[in-house]
Amino acid sequence: MAALFCRSAGGLLRPFRLVPCMVAAGPGQYQYILVEKKGEHQNVGFIQLHRPKALNALCDGLMIEVGRALDQFEADSQIGAIVITGSDRAFAAGADIKEMQNRTFQECYGGNFLAHWNKVSLVKKPVIAAVNGFALGGGCEFAMMCDIIYAGEKAQFGQPEILLGTIPGSGGTQRLTRAVGKSLAMEMVLTGDRVSAQEAKQAAYELTLAEGCRLEKRLFHSTFATEDRKEGMTAFVEKRKADFKDK
Ligand code: CAA
Repeated sequence: MAALFCRSAGGLLRPFRLVPCMVAAGPGQYQYILVEKKGEHQNVGFIQLHRPKALNALCDGLMIEVGRALDQFEADSQIGAIVITGSDRAFAAGADIKEMQNRTFQECYGGNFLAHWNKVSLVKKPVIAAVNGFALGGGCEFAMMCDIIYAGEKAQFGQPEILLGTIPGSGGTQRLTRAVGKSLAMEMVLTGDRVSAQEAKQAAYELTLAEGCRLEKRLFHSTFATEDRKEGMTAFVEKRKADFKDK
């Protein structure tokens, strides 16, 4: 699935002429997301990531809920396309570091950690990511799993896992290369620096996706065998600079 960076979010919303209408679902069905059917003909499935205090960090519960909402829209013959968005401040600031902090290598490898995250890339209906604010780590990867990315002026894309002593674990090294080209992708992954939608679009470059995502996930799991990964995430949670030892 090719990710196309940078169209204005305003441009995204116009063609659908969005009219809110809550999806038929019991109250309290979702804790971390808002789910609605929108549009004049209620044919747009709308999922808004809603964990504002954690900048929409993608905890397990949130990703499970997104999977359920996607299933619901996929099965609904009224729905023609799905939009996933966050807030003005954050599409998503990545996988939930606090949730991952104490995971062991055995848990990650044995449990195939993050395996269910790619569900959005398997949805048959077109999925559009409407991105503003931070799209970092797993947030950037999640957006790139969608078919199209419409990015607002405040969007910032990045793969800052290196600053936590780990690597992207949900397709970042593979899809980013195809979205922005090898040079910028390597720079982003090796430095953790962020880029704007405009910079990403300028560098856009199209290739095909292959086996790499599986390999990448196993390498991501293996960072959980290092002391530096633990130190990187612990330092984030304790709000201090990481003291990496290259171990
Ligand atoms: N996980 C858990 N909590 C997070 C989070 C994350 N990824 N990102 C932000 N938060 C939380 C912060 O801990 C903070 O919570 P408290 O108020 O309880 O301390 C709250 O969200 C607001 O964050 P900040 O105070 O840090 O806000 P800021 O404006 O100063 O900085 C930011 C914003 C630059 C996005 C910064 O929060 C940040 O660097 N976040 C981490 C980004 C990151 O490293 N993402 C990659 C995660 S690893 C990954 O995604 C692996 C993968 O490939 C699947």
